[in-house]
Amino acid sequence: MKSRTVVAISIGIFLIIVQLMQSCKKETVTVVITDIEKQLEYIAPPAMDIIVPDGFPPIEVPDDNPFSEAGIQLGRNLFYDNNLRCTSCHQQIQSFTITGNIPVTVNGKSYQRNPMPFVNLAWVQGFAWDGRSLTLEEKIIESIVESVGIPYETLITNLQSSTQADYDKLFTSAFGSNEITSIKINKALAQFLRTMIAANSPAQKHLRGELTALSQLEQDGFDIFTSETGNCSHCHLHSNQLFTDNTFRNNGIDSVNNVSDFSDYGHGEVTGVDFDNGKFRSVTLVNIALTAPYMHDSRFQTLEEVIEHYNTGGKFSPNVDNVINESGNGLNLTQYQKDALLAYLESMTDISFVADTSFSTPF
Ligand code: HEC
Ligand code: HEC
Repeated sequence: MKSRTVVAISIGIFLIIVQLMQSCKKETVTVVITDIEKQLEYIAPPAMDIIVPDGFPPIEVPDDNPFSEAGIQLGRNLFYDNNLRCTSCHQQIQSFTITGNIPVTVNGKSYQRNPMPFVNLAWVQGFAWDGRSLTLEEKIIESIVESVGIPYETLITNLQSSTQADYDKLFTSAFGSNEITSIKINKALAQFLRTMIAANSPAQKHLRGELTALSQLEQDGFDIFTSETGNCSHCHLHSNQLFTDNTFRNNGIDSVNNVSDFSDYGHGEVTGVDFDNGKFRSVTLVNIALTAPYMHDSRFQTLEEVIEHYNTGGKFSPNVDNVINESGNGLNLTQYQKDALLAYLESMTDISFVADTSFSTPF
């Protein structure tokens, strides 16, 4: 305890100097404070492992935020807490999205974006449609401050006097002391969201070798999805059972002559590279039948419309993905092939996920 105090004081002095030197660069100072809070944080949870489904890639859990039963429970309480209101845009029944666009500010520009579903977030490598957050913890900070719009100081005060949950007890069990800090809130929420694993859809069981999990129509859809006929798994990789390759691509939904003409710069807003404008995450398709409307701006209302987009051919732009471009005038699928592809997309639904009470409200 004593050495911590000494560390805190000396870091405090260092901070004042930094602050004096960089009084006009506030962001830099904020980052330093976060680091110090991290150093002083008491990390005590009895770590536990989450079961990774057969055939899924291993989970990379951050060293400073291992799973614990108590951490997950705290996260679940926070997620459903009236102060956080995450559920106003993320509803379990729709695999944690809602229908409708929400204004999102990136680099000072306002874009209309579709709230993202939560499914298998433990494997995501760049969060949000454009990949602007490298970690789930980082995205959660943004969600609290921007999407919910509540400052941490207010949130902490409200949680301290909450009658909804016994946060004294929940924070103590999860992190060894009842002190409520922004870092503990972020960590607990991230632990809870990482447990949202969907692995029991017929399409995933089929990939694990249960060949009878799919009907003949769905099986035909699988053949189209994974072969050059549909070429879907080129980007929505099926072999990892996640139906995403976690990259950022232009799937040809907009026609522009110049990359600066995209109305939403997407990944380009993050990298600052013009050629990345109009690229978005080749998102997971697990639970896709539950998450309409589709694409980053909700432009397609149904999966039939999405299939029609790929079927008639992506629109031209300088950085449209080669795979989309190669198909030239589109896939030209027959009606039966379109029905089969739709059936396969629908077979990616894990009903047990939306019914799982460990993801639903504790209140
Ligand atoms: C007002 C609506 C709204 C609220 C409230 C909201 N979100 Fe979101 N959320 C969104 C939108 C929109 C996106 C997509 C953002 C983008 O791509 O720019 C998103 C994306 C996310 C993602 C990224 C998922 C991925 O696959 O990359 C996470 C994680 C997330 N939200 C967590 C939360 C949490 C936790 C809360 C509560 C603290 C919350 N959100 C509250 C609208 C909301
Ligand atoms: C070149 C890579 C690529 C190929 C090939 C591709 N997709 Fe996509 N797909 C994406 C990207 C990137 C997005 C997100 C685009 C956006 O939001 O603007 C997406 C979005 C989607 C969505 C909407 C996801 C959501 O949550 O809103 C569906 C459904 C979909 N693709 C199905 C398919 C099907 C079916 C095929 C094959 C016929 C296919 N994709 C081929 C890259 C690809």
